Amino acid sequence: MRSLWERVLARRVAAFRACTRTDFSQLPSPPGTIHFTGGAPPVECLPVEPLSEALAQTWRREPTALWYGETEGYEGLRAAIAARMQRRGAAVDPDQVLITQGAQQAIDLVARLLLEPGDRVVVEGPTYFGALQVFEPYAVEIEAVPLDEGGVLLDRLEEAFRREPRPKAFYTVPTFQNPAGVTMSAERRQAVVELAARYGVAIVEDDPYGELWYEVPPPPPLRAYWDEVLFLGTFSKTLAPGLRVGWLVAPPRLMKPLIDAKEAADIQSDRMLQRALAAVVSSSWYERHLEAARAEYAERCRLLADALAHELGGLASWSLPGGGFFLWITLVDGVDTASLLPRCAEHGVTYVPGAEFYPDHRASPSLRLGFTTLSRQELLSGAERLGRALRAVLAGTTTG
Ligand SMILES: Cc1ncc(COP(=O)(O)O)c(C=O)c1O
Repeated sequence: MRSLWERVLARRVAAFRACTRTDFSQLPSPPGTIHFTGGAPPVECLPVEPLSEALAQTWRREPTALWYGETEGYEGLRAAIAARMQRRGAAVDPDQVLITQGAQQAIDLVARLLLEPGDRVVVEGPTYFGALQVFEPYAVEIEAVPLDEGGVLLDRLEEAFRREPRPKAFYTVPTFQNPAGVTMSAERRQAVVELAARYGVAIVEDDPYGELWYEVPPPPPLRAYWDEVLFLGTFSKTLAPGLRVGWLVAPPRLMKPLIDAKEAADIQSDRMLQRALAAVVSSSWYERHLEAARAEYAERCRLLADALAHELGGLASWSLPGGGFFLWITLVDGVDTASLLPRCAEHGVTYVPGAEFYPDHRASPSLRLGFTTLSRQELLSGAERLGRALRAVLAGTTTG
């Protein structure tokens, strides 16, 4: 007889994607391995002082925030978010903001509202694997449309939109994309929203990195071009991922079902934390913090890119992102980076292989390097190890 769990588990469980398919704990990495796998602010950039002060005040001033309350989120935080989005060119009413447990929950809520088995979803290829994790259990067909330096390729996107059954949604990270680092140009943003409006496809704009530009601010979010766009934001990258606070901006028609879905999922997000965060993100400290974070990430990115130019010369190509957390490196000889990873780990360096970022886990000659959690010394040593490892491994693969 089948075991209890074989009998009762839902079929969709088989479609759950492991956090990353690569089990980094199983890699043969020696102690002291440099992991280019992170995607978080470094410890020294965490908002410990201002946030702990704001939390202490909230505890004293508003103890009733410990009760159940506003599923849509704290009004003061929603207003602060709407004001920031306004400054980026997107006119957003606080009533159109839903506070979520990070951007990840926002993706999940959108999927609950839109997707049914057999639906089509269009993503960028490569794309953020956490979105694939959400979409795949819905038994949808996920199509990846390629990117270039200016973002998603418009002719390929239109082909995907035109094909029947018409896709329900286009999930995009248009600004400092995870993993490719590219930013959709202003012209393409305009064209993408026009295509989506013409073909009746919902745009899900995921924007964790938009405030983390290095020298020049990016174009306004897609939401500034079209107010039907579903916009997802988060404090995970600007402040700290452990807070689990993000938001979803949606058109009025969707707010009630979204709030209902949020209530069903977890009733509400942490009310104390939302009040403290509203104070922190409205303060002058936050502006100074963002400026310092931008300068710090720009510097780490440049340092790593310079070191890679020295260590990987001739082996790989990449282009410099204008912001965000990642360098996307492509090996010129086209070897699948997933198969190279264990050998690189033996040399004391790891990365996220390109295959993770495609719905079909296709072999990919690319890899993602996250540089924000590593010190300057680690970035230099990591680049050196990566160069050494790739040379050794690629020499092995070509000689058989
Ligand atoms: C594109 C993208 N979306 C969503 C997330 C998840 O963000 P959060 O921590 O806010 O759930 C990440 C984190 O890496 C990301 O890169």
